[in-house]
Amino acid sequence: MNKNTNTVWHHATVTRYRREQLNNHRSAALWFTGLSGAGKSTLAHAVEEELYHLGCRTFVLDGDNVRHGLCSDLGFSTEDRTENIRRIAEMAKLLTEAGVIALTAFISPFRSDRERARNLFSHGDFIEIYCQAPLELCEQRDVKGLYRRARAGEVKEFTGISSPYEPPLNPELVVATDSLPLEDCVAQVLTLLRVREVIKQPE
Ligand code: ADX
Repeated sequence: MNKNTNTVWHHATVTRYRREQLNNHRSAALWFTGLSGAGKSTLAHAVEEELYHLGCRTFVLDGDNVRHGLCSDLGFSTEDRTENIRRIAEMAKLLTEAGVIALTAFISPFRSDRERARNLFSHGDFIEIYCQAPLELCEQRDVKGLYRRARAGEVKEFTGISSPYEPPLNPELVVATDSLPLEDCVAQVLTLLRVREVIKQPE
């Protein structure tokens, strides 16, 4: 609900288009979604590294980091996750206005939240990337030890165990992060960015 009715939007003269011209690439939001431990952050950071080498302006928004600051007041109830994703989506939107390729790595388990995020963007600016790895594998890896604690009932409403994950029905890309080497996953994302003309084809 918007509580600010007496505000007026100020239009910048340095527009997104002019920033994109300066950067020599388009801006976009790459929305990575998947279970905890599916490899979202790893893939987002590896894609960012590659884009950096290509001279692109990028920024990664990452679940564990953002929850220390901007979203430190939020937990993992359905309502809090919805608010978490709303804030992240607004941040990603600002970053795209700033000419940046924003990469977001959040479980974002609910389709309706991801759809709301998508609807903030113009067609083609929101690229949903499903990091597909089965629960059994994420649980087996259990990098943070949270699955074990969730099974023991020490962590409540844990995605995949005691809280649902709704896989995307029609994402722009599905990456098999469980079976493909990281370089191949990165290459798939880079190819998509070229096809969608976010970045240019190599000369
Ligand atoms: S989201 O559901 O709101 O998108 P987000 O990506 O920000 O989640 O945070 C997920 C990270 O928080 C996980 O990778 C994990 O490290 C940690 N975490 C702590 N408690 C939970 C929980 N109940 N469910 C899922 N992740 C949790």
